[in-house]
Amino acid sequence: MLRWSLFSILILSALATTAQSGQLDVQPDWWKETVFYQIYMPSFQDSDGNGTSDFAGMTSRLDYLQSLGIKGIWLTPFLKSPKVDNGYDVASYTDIDPVYGDQDDFRNFLNEAHHRGIKVIMDMVVNHTSTDSKWFQESRKSRDNPYRDYYIWRDQPNNWESFFGGGAWELDTLTREYYYHKFDVRMADLNWSNPRVAEEIQQALRFWLDLGLDGFRMDVINFLTTDGILNDNPVKDGGQQHIYDIDQPGVKEAMRSIKATINEYDRRFVVGEIGSDKLDVLRQYQSPDLMDVVFNFNFGSIPDFSVERIFNELQGMEHSMPGYPTLFFGSHDMTRLMDRLAGGDPGRAKALAALILTAKGVPFIYYGEEIGMQNIYAESFEEIVDIQGKTHYKLALKAGKSPAEALAEGNRNNRDKSRSLMQWDDSKYAGFSTVKPWIKVNENFGEVNVHRSLHQRNSILNTYKALINLRNNEKILQYGVYERLEHSDDQILFTRTFQNERITVIINFGDESAIELPGGAEVLMGQPILKTNDFLIFRH
Ligand code: GLC
Repeated sequence: MLRWSLFSILILSALATTAQSGQLDVQPDWWKETVFYQIYMPSFQDSDGNGTSDFAGMTSRLDYLQSLGIKGIWLTPFLKSPKVDNGYDVASYTDIDPVYGDQDDFRNFLNEAHHRGIKVIMDMVVNHTSTDSKWFQESRKSRDNPYRDYYIWRDQPNNWESFFGGGAWELDTLTREYYYHKFDVRMADLNWSNPRVAEEIQQALRFWLDLGLDGFRMDVINFLTTDGILNDNPVKDGGQQHIYDIDQPGVKEAMRSIKATINEYDRRFVVGEIGSDKLDVLRQYQSPDLMDVVFNFNFGSIPDFSVERIFNELQGMEHSMPGYPTLFFGSHDMTRLMDRLAGGDPGRAKALAALILTAKGVPFIYYGEEIGMQNIYAESFEEIVDIQGKTHYKLALKAGKSPAEALAEGNRNNRDKSRSLMQWDDSKYAGFSTVKPWIKVNENFGEVNVHRSLHQRNSILNTYKALINLRNNEKILQYGVYERLEHSDDQILFTRTFQNERITVIINFGDESAIELPGGAEVLMGQPILKTNDFLIFRH
């Protein structure tokens, strides 16, 4: 109680407080007003009965996204690909993979999204291509092929490792040189010190921008090899330190060429995936000439629930990110929010949703998070689809582990966990498809599905809807700076202000508490008696 009366006093005195940090950012941009929704391409909606999602199926679900209040969609890769890494291994930068449909299906999806006021950004993977791409097929033919320098070839490998496990070099027998692959052996790294590579990528970006696409999510964009492979990485405590293979000199120049190309078009947006969870690394890539925003993994990928840690990251971003941070707790590379942070508790999942949808930043919701979808686990090696999971399983066996231990190791690294099918209803395959799909459905789909959630007043889904609706209608929640950003035991409190109006949000992860509202306050969501995992939003 003491804690709360203290808070109440602070709230009453809020009018006298001045903003501690963060300049008023009044430059209007659509992406600052947007709640994004990430669709993992193969898992959203199948329309043609091949067990994989497609553009026609996704188009049929746009009404759902519109009713949720979504204004931006991030599509994971849909370009032609052998799908070793589910499309992150691109074989052509301008062709749509037939499993997802054709150009007309894509255009129709884009138009229908635009009609509903929804922008669409696509994943662009320019660190590497599939070894099936025409460029690589040419490159490997001879040492003097015009495409040879599109990739990184050496007669001797260095000690760099693949991020999926194992070494990063593969001997190509035809020309007896090694090529470099930071990810799987079938994903060869592009040589960004070759200006022709930068030009080719610029052309690819223009191709999609000309079609009316609203922007990109640039995959592992600080990994580009812009400065060759000069030094071995140092090894410390048995692990390799990624000193020389990422954040190379020249990477910002490459980003500048990408951003300049995007800036040839009006009202486009780019978010960078920087492979790091260190705020100091992330922040240096966010600027008007590099990336509009970057994914804040310092916040988004925290491994366990901790109010203090969440708050510290929020505060750290406020103090050191130039412009807007991004706010998310899930993606296709991470475990699900519901398991990792909410501990299976729908109340806590809602409270975490309230945080990312009202704090300062650009929110990204990962598909299915809005209904509380949970991780899946592989029961055998055959069930693992993800290349990272498979690689770790095989490496564990090679290291002498038993099949059971190797399966545990595979599951630990298996990103299938968060990639299971969108759960629409309780019909077979959860309304995703009529045939056996590419990945299994979570067995909880009978209880956890969109259809059911829509009819439950207090469902996670209806809470997301109400929060997104509030954010869409309140400039303070889009543009407001922090007047206060505080943490006390198990509560996070912030007041955001914009053009002399203010909204306060209190999120309570602790015991029940009563809030004394300032006179004239208008409650926007919640009740002044805050239960555990509850929140209150009011204007004053
Ligand atoms: C990014 C993607 C991940 C992919 C990797 C290689 O981290 O998010 O899914 O495997 O890049 O492209």
